Amino acid sequence: MITIRRDFFRSIAAAFTWPAADAAATDGRPARSRPGTTLAAPKEATPDLRRGPYLQAQGPDRIVVRWRTAGTARGCRLRYGDSPDALDRVVPARLVPTAFKGFEDWAAVVEGLEPSRTYYYAVEASKVILAGADEGHTFRTAPPRGRPAAVRFWALGDCGTNRVDTGNPGKAVAARNGFRKFNRGRGPLDGILLLGDNAYSHGTDAQYQTALFSVYPDELRSIPVWPCIGNHELTDDYFGIFTVPERAEAGGVPSGCPNYYSFDYANIHFTVLDLWKAEWRDPDAPQRRWLERDLAAARGDWLVVVNHFPPYCDGKYESDHNGYLVEIREKILPVLEAHGVDLLLTGHDHTYQRSYLLDGHHGARETFDPARHRKDAGDGRSAPLVKGHGPHSGLVVVVTGTAGGEQPANPADPHGTRLAHPAMVKLPHGDQEGRGMRRLGTFLLEVEGLTLHGTQVDHHGEEVDRFTLVKRRYRP
Ligand SMILES: [Fe+2]
Repeated sequence: MITIRRDFFRSIAAAFTWPAADAAATDGRPARSRPGTTLAAPKEATPDLRRGPYLQAQGPDRIVVRWRTAGTARGCRLRYGDSPDALDRVVPARLVPTAFKGFEDWAAVVEGLEPSRTYYYAVEASKVILAGADEGHTFRTAPPRGRPAAVRFWALGDCGTNRVDTGNPGKAVAARNGFRKFNRGRGPLDGILLLGDNAYSHGTDAQYQTALFSVYPDELRSIPVWPCIGNHELTDDYFGIFTVPERAEAGGVPSGCPNYYSFDYANIHFTVLDLWKAEWRDPDAPQRRWLERDLAAARGDWLVVVNHFPPYCDGKYESDHNGYLVEIREKILPVLEAHGVDLLLTGHDHTYQRSYLLDGHHGARETFDPARHRKDAGDGRSAPLVKGHGPHSGLVVVVTGTAGGEQPANPADPHGTRLAHPAMVKLPHGDQEGRGMRRLGTFLLEVEGLTLHGTQVDHHGEEVDRFTLVKRRYRP
């Protein structure tokens, strides 16, 4: 057996070892270059765009541009200007504190802008353009507060189904494609409203990546998105993803809380509620007190409230027996009616249902009295629903939880839901009893002056419903 001593290897290794570079540096002699090797490059960030850019908390004079990089990016900033080739203004981005491992989330807050104006932009890190400086990356400021303008908002209810393990990952994409087809040539969108359940099943950051940022990238880079919390926002990742104007940066009364907020857009005041994570049942809860103040202070021609849960429903959920929906009907709806809210946009049920112009119906369906609870006998399709301003002038409730899936009829349903709620209008091609539709789709809100249109568009790009609401020319 041959034995080789360990000392033998040490002597061989020493013969081929180059003197340490730092030894040369400290004894004053220049370091010798090593033939056939490459000197290490200086350490430098390698920016890698992983999300966005996307637009948040827009106002007449401001916008927030968010994006995400992987690793450690340096010198993150936003460039913007009047054309893709003239991005002559620069705003440094700040790092958003989040718990998302391996990523850095950035926010550039741009202020001092002019209303109703389109700007081109690019996001950069380490002097490298990560995205933008082209025709596809623009942001537009909101119109002057209170002044009428032609406004179009796209509402996505329960859109977050694009994940591998749902078995229907293509549905949100189909609903999106239907709307893109419908909207071709009809004009730009001013905003995107998320009605909650934006990323199944738990609203994690990774689920938001596949369900929201991967499905709507073309829209999100140029249309501000306004989020709302649903019952599938089970984690708190939502708060690291979205920047909302909780300090009334875009109008309204400061909520001081990222769960709920409001904003003005032209002559519309939007109020976004969180009836899931934040307390709402107690009239003295901060959200309830803020809601009263916010609606009382709103001066726009139109008041639109966004919330995940509907007060009336007969799809998967049945609002006479579902305690959660009963409570919303009894505790929140009267507040909205008393402040003259015009439209309540909701999701949660994966169907489309839309009400008459209503006031004062807070009980179960058998207590619905058309003569008493309808403020206009029409359905808003063949002729506009006409309403006044102020308390108890009537509101329309929309359930549009169909952006990511459609709820089929369930014969085993103990409540026998049949899309038959009497507060909801009959649709021309509605399913079952006709007061709703079990079909993929998204909702378009259009306002021009004192006229409001609501349109549900299915995944083929066809209108399922289109109603019109007109306000009388009277200001209290
Ligand atoms: Fe839901």
